[in-house]
Amino acid sequence: MPRPASVDATLELLAGENYLAGRPLATAVFLALSLGKPLLLEGEAGVGKTELAKVLARALDAELIRLQCYEGLDIASAAYEWNVARQMLEIRLAEAGHEADRAKLLAGLYSRDMLIERPLLRALTQPRPPLLLIDELDRADEPFEAFLLEILAEWQLSVPELGTIRAAHPPIAIITSNRTREIHDALKRRCLYAWVDYPDAPRELEIVRRKAPGAGERLATQVVAFVQRARHLDLFKAPGVAETIDWTNALVALDTMSLDPQSVADTLGVLLKYQDDIAQFEGGAARAILDELHAEGILEPRP
Ligand SMILES: Nc1ncnc2c1ncn2[C@@H]1O[C@H](COP(=O)(O)OP(=O)(O)O)[C@@H](O)[C@H]1O
Ligand SMILES: [Mg+2]
Repeated sequence: MPRPASVDATLELLAGENYLAGRPLATAVFLALSLGKPLLLEGEAGVGKTELAKVLARALDAELIRLQCYEGLDIASAAYEWNVARQMLEIRLAEAGHEADRAKLLAGLYSRDMLIERPLLRALTQPRPPLLLIDELDRADEPFEAFLLEILAEWQLSVPELGTIRAAHPPIAIITSNRTREIHDALKRRCLYAWVDYPDAPRELEIVRRKAPGAGERLATQVVAFVQRARHLDLFKAPGVAETIDWTNALVALDTMSLDPQSVADTLGVLLKYQDDIAQFEGGAARAILDELHAEGILEPRP
């Protein structure tokens, strides 16, 4: 699949995979592809950062190589590891063999085929440019970012015992952060940046139409209006787009045609994942939002 030729083509490419991006985000994606630069996506959980990378890989028919970051992630898990078991075997063979073979065997101990490739190295060694997703980088320890700099700036990786491995076909790189801490300036400088926000109501409605097609237009509109308002409250964890979709599907499964206090109360656990948030909704917040929707004519007037 050729890379899109314009921002509009990028929007269409993503929409073709049911990903609805705003123009600024599509522009960032288009530029990242055109300039061959990594794209750093920041935003709250559930706004579609990971999904964008997956969808883009699918749309471009690129292999998705995903590095999920976590506390304690090290180079051995992220980039490469020496195959110690094979090295030991070679050493044993060398010990048993003739003097002449010995030098050759030992010289091969730190060769390319003794390396076990982890996601970062694999992303540099593919015959076609893959899509490298470095997901939730804010979870990794800060020194790990320093290690990433060389890869993201030069598309190469230095292995002390072996030398520098340079990508013949650099990956398309997408880095995400939920912003539990700041990503370093040095890394930001090497990336294009996009802040991913929750979709506005019309876009979220279109997402629900595509991802929860079982819902009628009326219910979908009500759900989106409700969730959009819920996000303005002071919540421990505001509902993401995934929650909107899940909630819609849950309501459909319960044969709900239209929101009412009972159906909302019964399904709050699909929308909210923290007891304090659920308590706030049970304590009046849900009612207040429903009242607003009535006042605005999004919900039918009460009988
Ligand atoms: N713009 C979008 N278009 C279509 N679906 C979206 C969009 N944004 C989010 N979603 C849906 O929301 C879900 C959660 O998004 P995800 O990428 O996991 O969020 P994040 O990585 O930002 O936490 C996705 O699986 C997808 O179904
Ligand atoms: Mg994610």
